[in-house]
Amino acid sequence: MIKALDGMRFSLGKRRPPINVDEYRAAAQRTLPEMVWTFMENGAEDEDVVQRNRSDFGRWQLRQRVLTGATGKDLAVRVGGITLSLPLVLSPTGLNGLFNWEGEVGAARAAEAAGIRHISSTGASYSLEEVARATRAAHWFQLYPWGDRSFMDELVGRAERAGFGALFITVDVPVVGNREGEKRVGMTLPLPTLTPQRLFNGALRPRWTYGYLKHQRITLRNFVNDGGASAAARSVMAQAGFMRPELLSWENLEWLRERWSGPAFVKGITEPEDARRVMDLGYDGIAVSNHGGRQLDKMTSAVGALPEIVDAVEGRGQILLDGGVRRGSDVVKALCLGATACMIGRPFLYGLAVGGRHGVADVIEIFRSEIERTLVLMGCESVSRLDRSWLREDDSRVPLRSPDLHTWLS
Ligand SMILES: Cc1cc2nc3c(=O)[nH]c(=O)nc-3n(C[C@H](O)[C@H](O)[C@H](O)COP(=O)(O)O)c2cc1C
Repeated sequence: MIKALDGMRFSLGKRRPPINVDEYRAAAQRTLPEMVWTFMENGAEDEDVVQRNRSDFGRWQLRQRVLTGATGKDLAVRVGGITLSLPLVLSPTGLNGLFNWEGEVGAARAAEAAGIRHISSTGASYSLEEVARATRAAHWFQLYPWGDRSFMDELVGRAERAGFGALFITVDVPVVGNREGEKRVGMTLPLPTLTPQRLFNGALRPRWTYGYLKHQRITLRNFVNDGGASAAARSVMAQAGFMRPELLSWENLEWLRERWSGPAFVKGITEPEDARRVMDLGYDGIAVSNHGGRQLDKMTSAVGALPEIVDAVEGRGQILLDGGVRRGSDVVKALCLGATACMIGRPFLYGLAVGGRHGVADVIEIFRSEIERTLVLMGCESVSRLDRSWLREDDSRVPLRSPDLHTWLS
């Protein structure tokens, strides 16, 4: 009997660490109060775009070429003038400190340790200066081109002085999308609406609640300096005050390109004509994105828009795919379609919620290992070799398994 078990490993723990992004998602849902979880996860209206951002990856199948001797180790790509160790970037997401007090600093540290970059949002819970002080690498900054030029000039100037390496300008938020999930759970502006039941729900997550009370990283720190609920309300109102759709213009995009001397990208492009215009203004690239389905519901999926954008840009700039990326094989498909790299939003937030910077590091590592394994199995040596010849288009369009179903089964 003993001999039969010889060499096996034993563990008393029932829980093992999550092994993929779907499992991180389920663990993040358990970790966060319902209000916070919903704010992170929900999309606009019927969430059609959230679903399609995932399911449209199913339009393409990977080809497998055997006996090539490929090891799939070569994952490095160049984006924004630097080399990333794998074709992955952490998308700008506001208020990271709400998910785990380590917030943007934790995410940026995990990114740089893995040889990639994090993009700090205008609405971050650590200021540009705090992120810069806490990290070694030049991370990237995301600007909402709202407000007048003095508003943009000030933020861009601060990013420059703090040593940020690239600018991402998000153009798909003239108004905030209609996120009904947030309304349902009381994530109202400028402050959430608490009820006894919601407070109880928070109390059931003592680790999250302790981090929240101790560190109070729930304010938009690029606008105010202090923590606490009243400061949070002030910061949200300050940001909302700048949001004036009538001021979003191609002229401002042109002005910003001249104002920022480093690499600059426009995030939130899904139409080929817009992509051409961005490149004509001298931008380094585009993030093909629909804001993770949080803005205009019923629009095209990010991956669905990608091939046309690649064709329109004609190699004049780099294209990043943002939205619905949950597997290394999604990254591989996007690269086959012509993207230089992918961006992930919710996946790294799941990691942050579950384990702070270590959770983010683990999610990045999961992507690295999945991309590597996918390449070896395909028989492809390097991400630089990926092109459309590695894909077969699938007309039958079998939708990908939905994460909800998986959570329910597990
Ligand atoms: C909680 C949350 C907050 C976000 N905040 C911002 C933001 O401040 N600026 C921005 O450009 N995009 C923001 N986004 C959109 C992300 O940058 C990205 O486009 C999206 O998450 C990609 O989809 P994915 O979550 O499926 O990866 C946010 C997304 C989430 C989930």
